[in-house]
Amino acid sequence: MSRFPDTRLRRLRQSAPVRNLVRETSLEARQLVLPMFVREGLTAPQPIGSMPGIVQHSMDSLRAAAAEAAEAGVGGVMLFGVPAVRDATGSGADDPQGILNVATEALVAEVGDALVVQTDLCLDEFTDHGHCGVLAPDGSVDNDATLERYASMALAQARAGSQLLGLSGMMDGQVAVIRDALDAEGFTDTLLLAYAAKYASAFYGPFREAVDSQLQGDRRTYQLDPGNRREGVREALVDQDEGADIVMVKPAMAFLDVLREVRDAVEIPVWAYQVSGEYAMVEAAAANGWIDRRAAVLESLLSIRRAGADAVLTYWAAEAARWLKG
Ligand code: PBG
Repeated sequence: MSRFPDTRLRRLRQSAPVRNLVRETSLEARQLVLPMFVREGLTAPQPIGSMPGIVQHSMDSLRAAAAEAAEAGVGGVMLFGVPAVRDATGSGADDPQGILNVATEALVAEVGDALVVQTDLCLDEFTDHGHCGVLAPDGSVDNDATLERYASMALAQARAGSQLLGLSGMMDGQVAVIRDALDAEGFTDTLLLAYAAKYASAFYGPFREAVDSQLQGDRRTYQLDPGNRREGVREALVDQDEGADIVMVKPAMAFLDVLREVRDAVEIPVWAYQVSGEYAMVEAAAANGWIDRRAAVLESLLSIRRAGADAVLTYWAAEAARWLKG
């Protein structure tokens, strides 16, 4: 018997062609979704300091960037609106003339046949207190009153042409209430993405500047505690039962274990959101020359896919799609 190994795992790693042939996980442009910000009243795109390379769009730059994303082959865009005026109930959210709904109409006209136009369904960008729902007199976030606002917002977004609603507010019962409201008005084809396992995360930090968040305090009474894995799976199962077409885990990289468990627990597609803090960390390290930016971005996306995501929301979607093409 030889004293050398019988099992040589390195045989499968010997050359790029062999490695390409045996790689278990793939990453394709169609699996990427680009989140985009549009700000009411802008005439030119405005850089977001906390997210180098990302902007708040004007209507014109939004259309152009969406067309570029479609050209690059990304699977979808997820639109966030930043209104000029906010109030306690987030009136801008379900106003047909509200920035998010107006921009949705424009995007559907521009790229609606090439990719899936998606809208964030949450009140936080539109409320003057920055919470994802309306407040009860004692200052707590009122779940059931918020559901009525979400139903109205869902109809406004569907009427504007949104093809997929991203339910990011973490209110109990939101999927069922919104599905009912849409079906009652004939919007039976509007897809629902439930941010099922959305954790109260420090990695949303840079996003606060992107949407001019008014939030004081935190969202710990509605978003999940980062210590809880089983609870994340339970949220996904409940949302699947309520009629979600797709469930999401968010953030992505700090919650890859939850992502894997959710993928194994449900039958529907599972997406993950690579959030602003994940973006900002890699950009900062790359700006300092500490990591290879392109390699780090692609590795992070491949890892999120490997953990179980069928698609990934990422601020690098358009750029990564171009890299993947050639
Ligand atoms: C809230 C919302 C947030 C993000 C997306 N939707 C912020 C929050 O929950 O505090 C964060 C996205 C990111 O950090 O990239 N509707």
